Amino acid sequence: MVVGLGMLDIFAALVLAGLWLAAGLVAGTLPYAERASRGRIVAVLFWLGVGALAARIALTAGVAGAGWWFVQDRVVLVLPLQIAAVAAVAFVARPRWRALRRPHTRRDAAHPALIAPVQVASFVGLAGVYAALGLTYPVRVGDGFVLAGATVLVGALCWIRHAMRWRRLADTAARPGPALPLRLLRTTGGALLAVVVLCGIGVGSALGTSLPASADMAGGPMDWGGGPVPAGHHGAGHAVSVRDLTGPRPDDGATVRRFTLTARERTVTIGGRRVAALTFNGQVPGPALRAYQGDVVEVTLHNALPHDGVTVHWHGYDVPNAEDGVAGVTQDAVRPGGSFTYRFRADQVGTYWYHSHELASEEVARGLFGTLVVLPRRERPADLDLTLPVHQWGERRAVTLGADTGRTRRAVDPGTTVRLRLVNTDSESHRPRLTGVAYRLVAVDGTDLHGPAPTRDRLPTLPAGGRYDLAFTMPATPVLLDTGDGASLLLGDGPAPTGQRGTPTLDLLRYGTPARTPYGAGSRFDRDFTQVFDSRIGAYDGKPTVVYTVNGRTYPDVPALGVRYGDLVRITLVNRGTESHPIHPHGHHMLVLSRNGAAPQGSPLWMDTVDVGPGEVWQVAVKADNPGIWMDHCHNLHHASAGMMFHLMYADVTSPYRVGDAAGNHPE
Ligand code: C2O
Ligand code: CU
Repeated sequence: MVVGLGMLDIFAALVLAGLWLAAGLVAGTLPYAERASRGRIVAVLFWLGVGALAARIALTAGVAGAGWWFVQDRVVLVLPLQIAAVAAVAFVARPRWRALRRPHTRRDAAHPALIAPVQVASFVGLAGVYAALGLTYPVRVGDGFVLAGATVLVGALCWIRHAMRWRRLADTAARPGPALPLRLLRTTGGALLAVVVLCGIGVGSALGTSLPASADMAGGPMDWGGGPVPAGHHGAGHAVSVRDLTGPRPDDGATVRRFTLTARERTVTIGGRRVAALTFNGQVPGPALRAYQGDVVEVTLHNALPHDGVTVHWHGYDVPNAEDGVAGVTQDAVRPGGSFTYRFRADQVGTYWYHSHELASEEVARGLFGTLVVLPRRERPADLDLTLPVHQWGERRAVTLGADTGRTRRAVDPGTTVRLRLVNTDSESHRPRLTGVAYRLVAVDGTDLHGPAPTRDRLPTLPAGGRYDLAFTMPATPVLLDTGDGASLLLGDGPAPTGQRGTPTLDLLRYGTPARTPYGAGSRFDRDFTQVFDSRIGAYDGKPTVVYTVNGRTYPDVPALGVRYGDLVRITLVNRGTESHPIHPHGHHMLVLSRNGAAPQGSPLWMDTVDVGPGEVWQVAVKADNPGIWMDHCHNLHHASAGMMFHLMYADVTSPYRVGDAAGNHPE
């Protein structure tokens, strides 16, 4: 709804700008008009534009119910400017253009009061388009001054130019006007100048964002979420370094499960095509790691890549901070030839995954990822337990399910208990379907759902980074898992089942049954943060591009969310853009409190990747129980690398690591 109305509003802004631009151009020709009807054309164009403005006001009112974030730019800046332009035209210009219906001199038609307000409206119409594409939430005071200032300046210039002509016409009333080509040149020149001014404003405000060669993540801007600002933050005292927030030492008695991951380049064949991949241990996906709850997992990473660094991040696994694998935040990227050992206790049961967090948007896409499954100690596992990462390779979009493209068959005896663990290792959502059997969605992001009822043919969209576990008992007839992107798995013998077409997607907020949670929407929160996600045209690191913003800023200018150990934190996630943003905080799980103001009706949802759709507002609760400096970003890694990245930072935690070219660390 919000998105649809927003699109209509952009359309109305374009129509408005077109009409007022035309009105301004025609107004400029009035002194040379042979017929009085020219003045009427100006009036018609202008008032049609006012109709578009009325539509914008109505659309803005319609969107306002979804939240102030969606309309602030229009309410405080653009619409007042456009309404002021209407007033100026109505009170200053209109009486004069009405007078043109009576016999008049060319000089009467050239009066600046007649033309300049209409041309200011032209500029303000264009400014509305600029604002729709280039402004986000929150509008800064500077934006207001710049736009209002530019409007005044344009008005003054128009006035001066027309006043000069008006004065000239006083003594050369009989002389014909300049030739048509010259007039056209002048008017298009004027319109172009307006566009250039607006582009200049946009580029000027965007060029402010460039990535520093070296940035200290613990030293940037902070947002304390309305809670107390800890004394001595960043200061001396008992600051702890992320370097010391390590996992268990090897000698504490637990079973240690050891793995080795070696990153190396390798050409692999995917869907019949040769792909220059980056691999762990020569394979894509990387090795499927399995452990039992309570084990200590010890993973030694070696870098055999020719040039780039690498790390391993445990997505969704709330490891101690020093084991989190983020280059420049919790460690230095492992350089070619180097090694690093990660160690953490496998406390969380369920389906997780790991991936490089150095140059993540490139290295993950090219293959530096794998799955991590932790099994409960006492429960009997399913007879057939498959972990199936879904991944898309390169431009040609070959999709793998597990390690395979196309349709894979697998014989399964009826009566076999089956668990399918779907992992989206991509930057885009997938819409998998399971047909031929009634199944239960038993876990999301590694956490079991409460009371999941059997369902058929419908699943929620699987967001980038997210996981779903599906469980069923194999029937006598075949079962098909289809990613919908050309990769599928057919279990059992016989022709693939066809599910019911057009089944609605399963709504996670209405699946399963409620259960008690340690905190919820009614809790008292120590801190309250609001993160508004959007994209706009701008420049990043000096290059013009679409930038992905958090509260109007791009990494590393997005303030870190500051917390103290033990805080209960509420975060409101607002998507003001047109693409979905799967938001992923490291080291913590989010308990979903609401989506678009509605509380979950089904199972409690503990997620590590919340897919905030366009126009959606989610509220989540996070317990600050894992000290450190934690990356928090959109898991569409292209969005992250174009600015949509920030940190969750505990007071009095410092990091000796630095991000940037100079340090050789590029977490994005
Ligand atoms: Cu799966 Cu910071 O990422
Ligand atoms: Cu995103």
